[in-house]
Amino acid sequence: MSATARKSAPLPDDIRARKGGAPLVSLTAYTTPMAQMMDAHCDFVLVGDSVGMVLHGLPSTLGVTMEMMILHAQAVKRGLDRAMMVVDMPFGSYEEGPQQAFRNAARLMAETGAGAVKLEGGESMAETIAFLTARGIPVMAHVGLTPQSINTLGGYKVQGRGAAGDRLMADAHAVAGAGAFAVVLEKVPQGLADRVTGELPIPTIGIGASAGCDGQILVVDDMLGLFTAFKPKFVKRYASLGEQAEAAIAAYAAEVRARTFPADEHVFADTAPGAKP
Ligand code: KIV
Repeated sequence: MSATARKSAPLPDDIRARKGGAPLVSLTAYTTPMAQMMDAHCDFVLVGDSVGMVLHGLPSTLGVTMEMMILHAQAVKRGLDRAMMVVDMPFGSYEEGPQQAFRNAARLMAETGAGAVKLEGGESMAETIAFLTARGIPVMAHVGLTPQSINTLGGYKVQGRGAAGDRLMADAHAVAGAGAFAVVLEKVPQGLADRVTGELPIPTIGIGASAGCDGQILVVDDMLGLFTAFKPKFVKRYASLGEQAEAAIAAYAAEVRARTFPADEHVFADTAPGAKP
C-alpha cells in the first residue's frame, strides 16, 4: 500500500511486512513544517541525530543530546498524521548497556510519541536490541557507516569492502536476529547491500547503499540543498533551496537599504478604509 493511500500511521510490524514489497520511502525531519510536507509521501520519518550537524552547526553527531532529540521529535510529531515517526538515540544514551538504553528509549517514546527508536551498531548492540524489543520498544538498527563511531572508524568511509563484508553481513544478521524490525545500511557497497537485502528477513533501508534495498532514506536538508557544507556522493539534490533562500535574503537586504521595502501595499493608512472621518 502506498503512503498516500494509507489512513493511519503504520506500525513497526507494517514496515517489517513490507520486506521485498513496494519500496519504503523515508526522509529525516526536525521541524513541524517539514514533517507536514513529507507526511503524505513517506512511510516513516526519522528524527535523525543529523539534526546536530544540519540545524545546530555541530561538527559531528556526537554532541547531540537527549533534550535536543526530544524537542525536535515533539515538533515533528505535531506535523505527522500518517507517517510513523522513528527517533534516533543520541550518542552516549544507550551504549553502556540494556538498562541505560531502556531508560532513555522509554523516555524518547513517552515524551515524543515516537513509534520506534533507532540505534547504531551491529553484533555489539544485539543484546540491547533484544532487551528493548522484549519490553515494548520497537528498534530500527543502523549498520555500515555509523556516524556516532567516526572516531573509531577513522572518518566517513565506505564500510564493508573486501573482507570487511563478512563482518557487516554478520552485524546485519545479528540485529535482525535480536528483533530489529528494519535496518539502515549506510555507505555500503552496492553488491554487499544487495546480498544483505537478499539474506535478511527484515527490510533494509539504504542511504548510500543500493536501489535494491527495501527502502531509501536521505537527510532532508541534503536533498533540498539546504545543507551545503559538504555533499556526500550518495546525496541527490532534488532542489537548491539554500541558494534560493540566500538570493531572497540578499534581495530583501538591498530593498531595505534602498528604502523600496516596505512599499505602499505593505503599510497602513492613517485612517481605516471606509472609516467615517
Ligand atoms: O541521523 C540521521 O539522519 C540518520 C540517517 C542518515 C539514516 O541516521
